[in-house]
Amino acid sequence: MEMQSNQTSSGAPGVGERSGGGLEFSPPTADDGLAVHRLIADCPPLDQNSVYCNLLQCTHFAETCVAVKRGDDLVGWISAYRPPQEPDVLFVWQVAVGESARGLGLAGQMIAHILERPACRGVSRIKTTITADNAASWGLFKGIARRLSAALSDAPWFLQNQHFPPGHDTEHLVTIGPFERDSLTISSRPAA
Ligand SMILES: CC(C)(COP(=O)(O)OP(=O)(O)OC[C@H]1O[C@@H](n2cnc3c(N)ncnc32)[C@H](O)[C@@H]1OP(=O)(O)O)[C@@H](O)C(=O)NCCC(=O)NCCS
Repeated sequence: MEMQSNQTSSGAPGVGERSGGGLEFSPPTADDGLAVHRLIADCPPLDQNSVYCNLLQCTHFAETCVAVKRGDDLVGWISAYRPPQEPDVLFVWQVAVGESARGLGLAGQMIAHILERPACRGVSRIKTTITADNAASWGLFKGIARRLSAALSDAPWFLQNQHFPPGHDTEHLVTIGPFERDSLTISSRPAA
């Protein structure tokens, strides 16, 4: 069935809309929970959470998460939420793009897509955490800051020797903003 066009001002596909590459963007449902779990497992260095955690993301936090499918396959995922203590913040928990869909601008499109939803009214900052060696993640969020014409700052937050068991690097808290959420423009790259 062809979805109704719902293009957003950023250029990212709207809810239920397909991108040029036939990728469909939607809030997740419980039926996506297991596929999310498997996609995360296929996207190191992301931490795996329990399936139960992914099911809660797909239900209680569906309005600030996105599932992107090519046909029946989940190829993109963002979990995010609005921290109750910081009403102007969208906290991006995890971003995962399957290898077959990387390099097309999908991660940036997913962030723009979430920001444009009614559930993100009042958001003027993005926060996330990144380990020092995750070049792809730094590249993604620096690109978002550039497109929003917003400052990006970072500082160590969850510390290797204080908060994690051995083997987990320090997570740096990255803050982008303040920005006008309407100012984000995402141009999609040619689909594979
Ligand atoms: C990180 C990830 C989500 C990027 O997905 P993607 O759809 O390929 O990213 P995009 O095509 O939207 O690229 C966004 C920006 O990041 C940059 N980027 C993407 N992969 C990169 C890499 N491996 N190294 C450096 N920069 C990279 C792109 O050049 C682009 O920069 P630009 O905005 O200046 O053009 C994907 O590689 C992934 O799932 N990795 C494994 C999981 C992970 O590390 N997630 C953490 C993200 S919070």
